[in-house]
Amino acid sequence: MPRLAGKVAIVTGSGMGIGQGIARVFAREGARVVVADIDEDAANSTAAELCSEGGTAIAFPVDVADERQVQRLIDFTIERFHRLDVLVNNAGVGVYKPLLETSREEWERALKVNLTGVFLCSKYALPHMRRAGAGSIVNIASVHSVQNVPGTAPYAASKGGVAALTRQMALDYGKDGIRVNAICPGWILTPLTEGIFRNSGDYEGMKRAVAERQVVGRIGLPEDVGYGALYLASDESTFVTGILLFIDGGLTAQLETW
Ligand SMILES: NC(=O)c1ccc[n+]([C@@H]2O[C@H](COP(=O)([O-])OP(=O)(O)OC[C@H]3O[C@@H](n4cnc5c(N)ncnc54)[C@H](O)[C@@H]3O)[C@@H](O)[C@H]2O)c1
Repeated sequence: MPRLAGKVAIVTGSGMGIGQGIARVFAREGARVVVADIDEDAANSTAAELCSEGGTAIAFPVDVADERQVQRLIDFTIERFHRLDVLVNNAGVGVYKPLLETSREEWERALKVNLTGVFLCSKYALPHMRRAGAGSIVNIASVHSVQNVPGTAPYAASKGGVAALTRQMALDYGKDGIRVNAICPGWILTPLTEGIFRNSGDYEGMKRAVAERQVVGRIGLPEDVGYGALYLASDESTFVTGILLFIDGGLTAQLETW
């Protein structure tokens, strides 16, 4: 029996990267997946790929920071599949700057997509889950939710907010049968991190150095996060809510000593 048989899941930002890895694992495990992404072409190509592998997936273009578009995403999902079991709030942007170099626009962009996006998608999904008496929300936070590196003020603030909001929603809707958890990924190979490697001027060198610094000696893959999300989305985790699940190759277990 597939682990998500009969369930309907929305995965935001699943046109590429971590979201795509989550959507792939979900579709393989029997979920009907709404591939929701601001990049319509990317969403279409992910959905087509999942369908060609035997899954059920449909693309929907959405900006998670736009309330009307989020409302349409949830309405579409309910009209199409008549239920919503799982919401993965994955869409996010990396804005890595010290506070003094961050413009108000950059600050607001990070907060709008990374935190307000979680708020809006959850706000419109929760009533349907409440009515059904069950649901699982999985927020993709970050190791930056709990530990900081220099020069990442907007990103760290937004991801700290995601961790706090995860606990809050878990407390407020647990009695309704809704569980809310977050995953804190470490270094995962995606278009986002590939951009960081490229911007360093030495793509291969930086990639190798990052891999060597992980306890497990490699960079994570989107599906590494997908397997954690699968557990939190499935009925195997019905006693689990309000947690931060670290999928980080041991990154947060080690102390930098120089
Ligand atoms: N890659 C990592 O190492 C890493 C580590 C920790 C946390 N994360 C988090 O994981 C999530 C995914 O990261 P990724 O590395 O896959 O990023 P990515 O840039 O590779 O992919 C992000 C996807 O989200 C979509 N997206 C961006 N803004 C959107 C919006 N407003 N509405 C809808 N879709 C939008 C993009 O089109 C893209 O398909 C983010 O929340 C990120 O902060 C990533």
